[in-house]
Amino acid sequence: MIRLKAYAKINLDLKIKGLRSDGYHELESIMQSVSLYDVISIEEISEGIEVKCNDPRIPTDERNLVFKAAQLCKKNVRITVEKNIPLAAGLAGGSADAAAVLFAFNRTEIGAQIGSDVPFCLVGGRCLVKGRGEIVEKVRGQKSDVGKYFVLVCPDIQVSTKWAYEQYDLTDTPHLNVGNSLEPIVIAKYPEIQKIKDLLLELKAEKAQMSGSGPSVFGVFNDKQKAQVAFDNLKKKYDSTFLTEPVDRGVEIV
Ligand code: C5P
Repeated sequence: MIRLKAYAKINLDLKIKGLRSDGYHELESIMQSVSLYDVISIEEISEGIEVKCNDPRIPTDERNLVFKAAQLCKKNVRITVEKNIPLAAGLAGGSADAAAVLFAFNRTEIGAQIGSDVPFCLVGGRCLVKGRGEIVEKVRGQKSDVGKYFVLVCPDIQVSTKWAYEQYDLTDTPHLNVGNSLEPIVIAKYPEIQKIKDLLLELKAEKAQMSGSGPSVFGVFNDKQKAQVAFDNLKKKYDSTFLTEPVDRGVEIV
């Protein structure tokens, strides 16, 4: 039996550079692992793949990325997922879980076959991510260079990543001065995200931005007390609110 922590990520920025011939988008993104994690337990069994999860909304069949990862590794396993990272939130929760399985079986080279965020989740920390997501370069510097605390708020909205990228392709004016190329499109449909950004800034965040294709928003803080006050306030309104810090890896054996 092996137990691993699979850390969530935020996109400190996300620039779409163009549409690729394979239908994906060429990206340039600074990704950062944060101290919000799922716990993945893996035990070998005599036959098949079994996935268990404490969250009943999560499929336990082929649709689950840990199932896919075990299939690709050709392993007979029981995988238990203790879910803390909100689902489909722009925090790479599913990709982090799959990365933990690949890490356990030492098959990190197949990450991109499972999802665009998996190669980053295998490295973690702070990285410049390019291509479809498969080019991952660790960014040097102090942990606190980008902010010591991140307050994450995930409203109860489902955003399809595929939809967000498609909408991006349909807009003719690229928003060059936004930190996340997908943010204006997603906010246009879900104004609640702008409301959360405004609340975070009112609560003295140094910066507030949507992560990935949303709907999660993070506020950057360097002052612990301000971060705590913002967390306490937002937690009253949004159940999925977390006070996190940057971490220097994506997967870790517990
Ligand atoms: O790779 P993954 O399954 O996580 O991607 C989900 C969707 O996000 C893809 O179907 C695609 O529409 C979009 N995407 C993209 N370009 C990327 C990554 C994701 O267009 N670099």
